[in-house]
Amino acid sequence: MAPIIRVEHLRKVYRVGHEKVIALNDVNLSIEAGEICCIVGPSGSGKSTLLNQLAGLEKPTKGHVYIGKHDISSMTENELAKFRQEHLGFIFQSYNLLPSLTAAENVALPLMFKGIARKERLQLAVQELKKMGLGKRANHRPTEMSGGQQQRVGIARAFVAKPKVIFADEPTGNLDSQTTKQVLYRMLNMAKENGITFVMVTHERDLSCVADRIITIKDGMVESNVVLDEQIKAKAKAEMFKDILEQESPAEPKTTMPAYSTKK
Ligand SMILES: Nc1ncnc2c1ncn2[C@@H]1O[C@H](COP(=O)(O)OP(=O)(O)O)[C@@H](O)[C@H]1O
Ligand SMILES: [Mg+2]
Repeated sequence: MAPIIRVEHLRKVYRVGHEKVIALNDVNLSIEAGEICCIVGPSGSGKSTLLNQLAGLEKPTKGHVYIGKHDISSMTENELAKFRQEHLGFIFQSYNLLPSLTAAENVALPLMFKGIARKERLQLAVQELKKMGLGKRANHRPTEMSGGQQQRVGIARAFVAKPKVIFADEPTGNLDSQTTKQVLYRMLNMAKENGITFVMVTHERDLSCVADRIITIKDGMVESNVVLDEQIKAKAKAEMFKDILEQESPAEPKTTMPAYSTKK
């Protein structure tokens, strides 16, 4: 399979007063289409900086980021904004929902740029919310929902327009461990079912065991880039999502795997 994301000699330097902070130093990597990729590493290692460069939210100091055949590092701000709207999705740690809009209106936002009429946008949004188990919350505002529910709205919003790649920075960082598993399970299933490449930053190494690829960042450099063995991955997923799988299909044998584990 061809890589969908390719990074060449990526460098990012921040200037703070007279000081230089080298946040990324000669990062090279590629991520294959359809992969679930986790970026892990200690706090301050450069994970968010890397994600922001991959997603075209910030400009690299040096080097190139390719998404498909597009060199996003050489795009103008306008081109980049358009590219993000058309091809990329985002999930944030703090959800970033608009408080004055209902769940459905929040989810419908990315469809505005696709020229879809309001009524159809809201219908598609409600469909997406149903997939996240939030059909009954479509008309609720973010303040009327728990953190886990808000993040599921955030996930529905990221997936509704079926982007090529979805980026998520510590998407479960504000959630308790049980809600984290629920949210992770739904994100991974949605990505696999739709063949969407999913790149997630987490400082919780435990969560990365369900990824196809784990990239470890240390001091702004790639320390390792590992593709997980299918068997190890299947076992890790069965373990992590045991409770959810039992609830979803109590009649099925316990060895049944979620949809996303039947890869290649
Ligand atoms: N906007 C910024 N201005 C200055 N320094 C920054 C900025 N963003 C990140 N940094 C610095 O870059 C390094 C990497 O930060 P970050 O990518 O946020 O790490 P992580 O997400 O792994 O915790 C840190 O030393 C951080 O202080
Ligand atoms: Mg970070």
